[in-house]
Amino acid sequence: MILLAGVKKTYTIRRFRLEDLDQVMYINRTCLPENYSTYFFIDLYKNFPETFIVAEEGNRVVGYIMCRIEGGFSGFSLVKRGHVISIAVLPEHRHKGIGETLLKEALQSMMNHGVKECYLEVRVSNTPAINLYKKVGFKIEKVIRGYYSDGEDAYLMRIKMP
Ligand SMILES: CC(C)(COP(=O)(O)OP(=O)(O)OC[C@H]1O[C@@H](n2cnc3c(N)ncnc32)[C@H](O)[C@@H]1OP(=O)(O)O)[C@@H](O)C(=O)NCCC(=O)NCCS
Repeated sequence: MILLAGVKKTYTIRRFRLEDLDQVMYINRTCLPENYSTYFFIDLYKNFPETFIVAEEGNRVVGYIMCRIEGGFSGFSLVKRGHVISIAVLPEHRHKGIGETLLKEALQSMMNHGVKECYLEVRVSNTPAINLYKKVGFKIEKVIRGYYSDGEDAYLMRIKMP
């Protein structure tokens, strides 16, 4: 149970479990045009369980975030980078802070694993998601032309960990 500003929230944030898979895939299909195979979800869970997080309300999974932790160079040094692969909240459960809580939980978990920065791609038309990312501290770094399969551009957004 989450307590924010003294208001008791009705959702629980916890790590993904394999029995959540069908519900998470349902949310993904309902909310996003970018859908993945069962194997893709399980692979992310097996490799990065700490950043695969769900929101549960009344025994129903209503949102998820899944990420990857990648190695990369920053100048001459090797750094760990977080990559938000997918985040979604069922339409009837939006505007309650679930997306923000999921994202912050994933970022905290990344920091606990030595991640120094995190990036993501988002459709340039996806104002709700862009606002969410900006609110949490991500900044637009550049436009990736034609990133999506339908030809839409993406913003590459990045946050440096404190
Ligand atoms: C993006 C998404 C995850 C946000 O989830 P949510 O639980 O409704 O978000 P929150 O309630 O935590 O909102 C946090 C902030 O996000 C922004 N935001 C959320 N919904 C918004 C909307 N419809 N319009 C504009 N800004 C919005 C606001 O800055 C908001 O802060 P505020 O409440 O102080 O204004 C949700 O809209 C969603 O699942 N969208 C479809 C999937 C998707 O686009 N995923 C991102 C792919 S890159």
